[in-house]
Amino acid sequence: MKPKIFVTHTIPDKGLNMLKDRFDVEINNFEGSLDKKTLINKAKDKDVILSLLSDKIDAEVMDACKNLNIISNYAVGYNNIDVKAATQRGIYVTNTPRTLDETTADFIFALILSLSRRVVESDKFMRSGKFKGWGAIDFLGFDVYNSTIGIVGMGNIGKAVGRIAYYGFLMKVMYHDDSVNNKDVKYGAEQVTLDKLLRHSDFVTINVPLMDSTHHLIGEKELSKMKHTAYLINTSRGPVVDETALYQALKDKRIAGAALDVYENEPEFTTGLNELDNVVMTPHIASATIQTRQLMSHKAAQNIIDFFDGKIPEGLVNKELIK
Ligand code: GLV
Ligand code: GLV
Repeated sequence: MKPKIFVTHTIPDKGLNMLKDRFDVEINNFEGSLDKKTLINKAKDKDVILSLLSDKIDAEVMDACKNLNIISNYAVGYNNIDVKAATQRGIYVTNTPRTLDETTADFIFALILSLSRRVVESDKFMRSGKFKGWGAIDFLGFDVYNSTIGIVGMGNIGKAVGRIAYYGFLMKVMYHDDSVNNKDVKYGAEQVTLDKLLRHSDFVTINVPLMDSTHHLIGEKELSKMKHTAYLINTSRGPVVDETALYQALKDKRIAGAALDVYENEPEFTTGLNELDNVVMTPHIASATIQTRQLMSHKAAQNIIDFFDGKIPEGLVNKELIK
């Protein structure tokens, strides 16, 4: 009998094509987030769950799925999975590392430029027929060139952002990440405390994973240290930023603006955020290119294939299982 896989939502076809001959693949075609009951119902007889970052997979789901061997998460972040519970049950958890770093860094610059040059605001202005001719003081923005960027979290995405900042925009690069050795970071990037980074940066970009230690890493106190002319960009996970505190800071114009690709309670967001002109909001799409999403599909499938071939999957998260 072929091992059974439940794919929680449609993903690009590359990985699905790799799986279809060898496995019994059921793809959920329901739109939006799967509720726990439906997830359990669909997955309870499966050997594998191929999940999205929006699927919460906790101990209860694992216990209900008696045959579950591996959870292959179609994402780099895996805070949606209770990894500790999986490890206790001998269930492999995998992610898709080295798939989206450059793609996400590109998008961070799309957001930085949209914010600082007021692209979204002026697009709305054009569409509403308000343009009456060139104005010397209309839509004044803030130069990205030669400004200072503060990167919170210098992992693969942070490093890609630093490279673009330095070589592309001749920015001064600061970062905060205690787990990184300064010698491994190039382009003159300065390793600083979070306090210094917040006080000196024109653009603060958050590139840490969501963990207990990064929950509300940026709250009212941190926002109050930022320059009034500075911008915050969050493409990591919503709960890293206290969204209510951010809303207040933006409303009171204590910082110049923010770009958010992620939200504390996706797909919801703080009431009123969408009324503010100094915010750019996107629907968690920083990794959304055809190339990257196909590569993620490939890696998510390869992790499953490797597991059944008795190999160590490249994306294995709970490595203690193989010791
Ligand atoms: C996207 O947010 C991911 O973690 O892959
Ligand atoms: C702007 O369009 C300029 O020519 O200065």
